[in-house]
Amino acid sequence: MEPSRAVLNSFQDRYAAPPRFLAHAPGRVNLIGEHTDYSDGFVLPMAIDRAVWIAFTPLPGRTVEVLSLDFNERLAFDLDTLKKDGPGWVEYIKGVAWALEQAGHSLGGWRGVVAGNVPVGAGLSSSAALELAAARAFASSSGLEWDAPKMALIGQQAENEWVGMRCGIMDQMISACGVQGHAVLIDCRSLHCQPAPLPAGTVVVVMDTATRRELVGSAYNERREQIEAAARYFGVVALRDVTRMRLENYLHDLDDLTGKRAHHVITENQRVLEAVQAMQAGDAGAFGRLMNESHASLRDDFEVSSLALDAIVECAQGHPACYGARMTGAGFGGCAVALVRADAVDRFSADVARQYTERTGLEPQMIICRASAGASVSVLT
Ligand code: GLA
Repeated sequence: MEPSRAVLNSFQDRYAAPPRFLAHAPGRVNLIGEHTDYSDGFVLPMAIDRAVWIAFTPLPGRTVEVLSLDFNERLAFDLDTLKKDGPGWVEYIKGVAWALEQAGHSLGGWRGVVAGNVPVGAGLSSSAALELAAARAFASSSGLEWDAPKMALIGQQAENEWVGMRCGIMDQMISACGVQGHAVLIDCRSLHCQPAPLPAGTVVVVMDTATRRELVGSAYNERREQIEAAARYFGVVALRDVTRMRLENYLHDLDDLTGKRAHHVITENQRVLEAVQAMQAGDAGAFGRLMNESHASLRDDFEVSSLALDAIVECAQGHPACYGARMTGAGFGGCAVALVRADAVDRFSADVARQYTERTGLEPQMIICRASAGASVSVLT
């Protein structure tokens, strides 16, 4: 059953009344611009037709009660005595409540049922989707005005300071600000968004390698520290402010590792801007070449790919229906993404899945994604 239907049915069964609201927030796939958001750089993700839904009704007091259908667990917490309770899905909801209260909002409670179909831990931002769906639930039950970029910042703060993952702003921004049928160029400094239509006759295919990397948090934080060290070396707030020419002039002074990391970020920012131009020109071939270059840079300079990601990307890049392919998200496992000719997408999916299995013994999931709108809420009763 579709999760949106499942949460509505389950709410009705449990409380013998329909929910007042249905919140929805999508996962995302990033087309290009990887590990650039925390350098105030550019990213080009799209929200996908995989999401988290919360069916809920406001409660008079300050208690939040949530049943997760995916984890088969019902948890409750009090907004007056918020405290961290180790890892778990409800911490993302609590973290959003905490960040909203920190921002000066006084929240009301609610009870609800949550479920989603964004694969967890695959690099498709199931956590940002949960954060933004929770933000929608708190906004509706507490009468808060919905300001999408502000709510994205709330989600990021929840993840940074409550959950303890130092993520950038990309995932929350695209879950909040997605545009149907479009990828969105996000300037991660100003949070300005510019929708860019996918080239005609192409589709985006997410390729889940069926591998997950446990230590992604520590490797991610280590990359952030390296990038911050590079910014300090150049005396700038963020690597966004270093041009490629300046980097090349100073490369011999930098240690090898810092030089490689900075090289990825600075060239990737440039690729994102070129990719938007390619999209505006409807040039799928140019866009695909930039995706391929992005993958090589993430593999060789930023060193966040994996054998499984390289294998699936190579299978995709070698296929005649593919314009380009790269790993997507934080890396080390999870998903890659390909831009594919729409009229040959079934053939592409079957061929790449078969070749990848022959090479690795793993069974990938091929997900054809449609670009979707950002977080929303419907009033039901
Ligand atoms: C994760 C983070 C994002 C971004 C990507 C890499 O998804 O949550 O903020 O840094 O990795 O581009």
